[in-house]
Amino acid sequence: MGADTFYVTTPIYYVNDKPHIGHAYTTILADVLARYHRLLGLPTHFLTGTDEHGQKVQRAAQANGITPQEQCDRTVVRFQELWQRLEITHDDFIRTTEPRHTAIVQRLLRELYERGEIYAAEYAGWYCVPCERFFMEKDLVDGQCPECHRGVEKLVEKSYFFRMSAYQSWLVEYIETHPHFIQPEHRRQETLGFLRQPLGDLCISRPRSRLSWGIELPFDADYVTYVWFDALVNYISAIGYGVDEARFARWWPASYHLIGKDILTTHTVYWPTMLKAMGVPMPESIFAHGWWLVGRDKMSKSLGNVVNPMQMIDAYGVDAFRYFLMAEMSLGQDASFTEEAFVTRYNADLANDLGNLASRVLKMISRNLGGVMPAACEPGADEEELVGLTLAAVRSMQDRIKAMQLDRGLADVLAAVRAANRYFDRVKPWSLAKAGDTARLGQVLYHAAECLRIVAGLLLPVMPAKMTALREALGLGAVAGVPSLARLSRWGGLTGGVAVSDIAGLFPRVERAALPAAPAAPQAKASSPAGVAVIGIDEVSRVHLRTARILAAERLEGSDKLLKLSVEIGAETRQIVAGIAAFYEAAALVGRTVIVVANLKPATLFGVTSEGMLLAARRGKRLSLLTVDGDIPSGAAVG
Ligand code: MSP
Repeated sequence: MGADTFYVTTPIYYVNDKPHIGHAYTTILADVLARYHRLLGLPTHFLTGTDEHGQKVQRAAQANGITPQEQCDRTVVRFQELWQRLEITHDDFIRTTEPRHTAIVQRLLRELYERGEIYAAEYAGWYCVPCERFFMEKDLVDGQCPECHRGVEKLVEKSYFFRMSAYQSWLVEYIETHPHFIQPEHRRQETLGFLRQPLGDLCISRPRSRLSWGIELPFDADYVTYVWFDALVNYISAIGYGVDEARFARWWPASYHLIGKDILTTHTVYWPTMLKAMGVPMPESIFAHGWWLVGRDKMSKSLGNVVNPMQMIDAYGVDAFRYFLMAEMSLGQDASFTEEAFVTRYNADLANDLGNLASRVLKMISRNLGGVMPAACEPGADEEELVGLTLAAVRSMQDRIKAMQLDRGLADVLAAVRAANRYFDRVKPWSLAKAGDTARLGQVLYHAAECLRIVAGLLLPVMPAKMTALREALGLGAVAGVPSLARLSRWGGLTGGVAVSDIAGLFPRVERAALPAAPAAPQAKASSPAGVAVIGIDEVSRVHLRTARILAAERLEGSDKLLKLSVEIGAETRQIVAGIAAFYEAAALVGRTVIVVANLKPATLFGVTSEGMLLAARRGKRLSLLTVDGDIPSGAAVG
């Protein structure tokens, strides 16, 4: 950016799976920053998108029995739908499979190759077949794959390398002389720490024989480019690098690349050295936020605790969800997500404080002043604290945004809301109404409404729909248009005489007990058989159902009910004991694809370990195994 524009980016998300709360968080954060900068009157560009090449996507496509492009086209919609529901106001959405991106990646690769920044070399390493990954000797754990702990084989092959090592000392110096380049400070130190080791050159190619889903190297058709060398370029390809120089110059350098802490090295080492080699200036700042944990646990599919943003929105609304994420996480630190913490904060900040203030003010103006905003008036001694804290919140928000301490800015806004509620309790407008002191009542309600005007303006980027409704109720809305921060910094912006409306239940209290475990629970109740407990989708997702191919089957010695099966679940072979001998001939089962519970605790039956459970439908004396319709590989997720 120049000083006069603001360009913010999110990481581009992998399309191997649907979006979760981590993706939602970064995108909401970028949206809030973009909206604030628009309030500041700065031309703003907000970019998000999807990272569509690479092994993760290729594998997901394989597991789903579709082509990688189909996998991308299907999953990208999940992201786009979520951004729409979350009211994300991105200006552009880039997909790395789009020609506007692939063409630039290829052009950069060619240029760097021609200039000798990329070179070919023999590469000796260790290859893990099941993981399909290459490791350096130093990465191995006890000579085994560091990921799956299985054996690895030595492989020597030609690869292409980017001369990253040539930029190490330049990068160290750049980071040292630009304290805001990597934020927060502890992440800057982490990168500097990483750079104390000698930096190697970066292998930027993958042989097509192992990875076909990637951008072809323009100088060697047997190779595709490493996914990071492709993905990072999105930040410049999307704004016209190499194609529309004026557009590129308008937005670049980016003000912020927002990232999660796990992709720090790629953004603070690979990307700057790539840019340097390309002769492109550095982004202003790379900001790494922490992770959302669930309680104390890392969020993971295998733990079954992945928070689905769509469910949260369905249950509590978009605005409350956005607010919680922004208020709860101190940027740079990890934060814990639990529904309980969500409800507690929602009830405290939104229902009791903000919702209550809005309802008190709007109701009293509607009931006692005929729904007309009282005339503007000067604040007196009674209003001192209220005015002070409210205007302090405006300054705080501006400062905190600059310092990337959004949670603290929001806490200051809430402090102003609480001051307004205290003001109400102290001056008791209901007594003034009873006593018929309409003049003083008007003054009190004007000042309380004025606090609401400023608060609604400050919170508009975080809770766009609810705060727009509040502004409209205060008679602002269409007439006043979007609030500028300058207008929010002055007390007395409300115009007397405009129509005010009451809005019922801006943030109705939510009770923990009334919470559905999942939004579908009320319907589930109606349709669940009598006496059967209703469970939420989160509980369902804990059960890992997978397709499995039966490789072998035999009767279990000592039992006339049990069969011992050997099944293939993706790359894994397992033994499962199933009570189906009375219904199926062992030999007839071989080759069939069935559904198994893959994460069942192993059990021992007749001295034989069983690692899973087959699903079957049963009525009376009949039993039928669940199988799949059509051809799908083993190991595919069922659900
Ligand atoms: N495709 C790469 C990014 C390329 S950017 C040029 C990628 N994609 S991702 O979909 O796996 O992750 C995107 C972002 O989500 C990362 O910033 C990651 O840190 C973030 N999160 C993933 N899980 C998270 C949490 N539990 N909490 C917060 N953010 C987390 O990496």
